[in-house]
Amino acid sequence: MSLKRIAPSVLAADFANLQRDVEMINNSDADWFHIDIMDGVFVPNISFGMPVLRDIVKHASKTIDVHLMIVNPDRYIQTFADLGSDILTVHYEACTHLHRTLQAIKAAGMKAGVALNPHTSVNLLEDTIQDIDMVCLMSVNPGFGGQNFIENTYHKVAVLKEMIEHKNANTLIEIDGGVTNKNAKQLVDAGADVLVAGSYVFKAEDPVTTVKELRKLVN
Ligand code: DX5
Ligand code: ZN
Repeated sequence: MSLKRIAPSVLAADFANLQRDVEMINNSDADWFHIDIMDGVFVPNISFGMPVLRDIVKHASKTIDVHLMIVNPDRYIQTFADLGSDILTVHYEACTHLHRTLQAIKAAGMKAGVALNPHTSVNLLEDTIQDIDMVCLMSVNPGFGGQNFIENTYHKVAVLKEMIEHKNANTLIEIDGGVTNKNAKQLVDAGADVLVAGSYVFKAEDPVTTVKELRKLVN
C-alpha cells in the first residue's frame, strides 16, 4: 500500500504562536500543512488570507496544501502560486468552468485539487477525474474546525476510489473534517490517501505524539 499522508490543518493552530506551531509540525511525523482560506461568502466564516499564508510559508518545511473555500477562485490562482502553494484545491460548487480552472492551476505550476461538499456526489467528477491530482472529500460542512465527522463519507471514498481505478487516474483522495483516531483507519481502508486533522492534532495535549499515533494507525 502507498504511503498515507497526514495534513494538520493550521486553522486550529494558535495564531498568536504561529511560528511555534508551524515549527512543531515541521518537527513532527506530519507530511503536509493544510491551509484553510475562507472568504465569508462561500462559507459562513472568514479565516485568514495572503499575508498570514506568506508568513506560514516562511517557516514551513513541508508541502503546502491550500484549500480555497472562496467564490471566484480563478481570480487568485496566480497569487497562491506566487505565495508558494504546492497544491491548490478549489470547490466544485464554486467553479462554473471547473476544467478550465484545473488547467489554470496546473499552468501556474501547482497540483490541482477539487473539494466536494458533503451533499455533492462524487459521480459529478466522472468526466474530469483524469485531470484532478487530488479530490478533497469534505467530511463536515466547510467553514469551521471541530465539527463531527459525517459517516456517509466512507461510502463516498469507496465510490470515488473505484472511479479512480476504473478510469486509470492518478488522483489522491483527501478527507477533511472531523478526522480522529476513531475514523482514520476505516477511511484509509476505504481508499483515502491524505487525512486532514485540525482540532484533533492542535487541541491535543501533545500534538507531536498525536500525529505519531495517527500515522501508526494508517501506515
Ligand atoms: C473545514 C476546514 C477543515 C478544518 C478541519 O472547513 O476545511 O480543514 O480545519 O478541522 P477539524 O479537523 O477540526 O474538523
Ligand atoms: Zn480544509
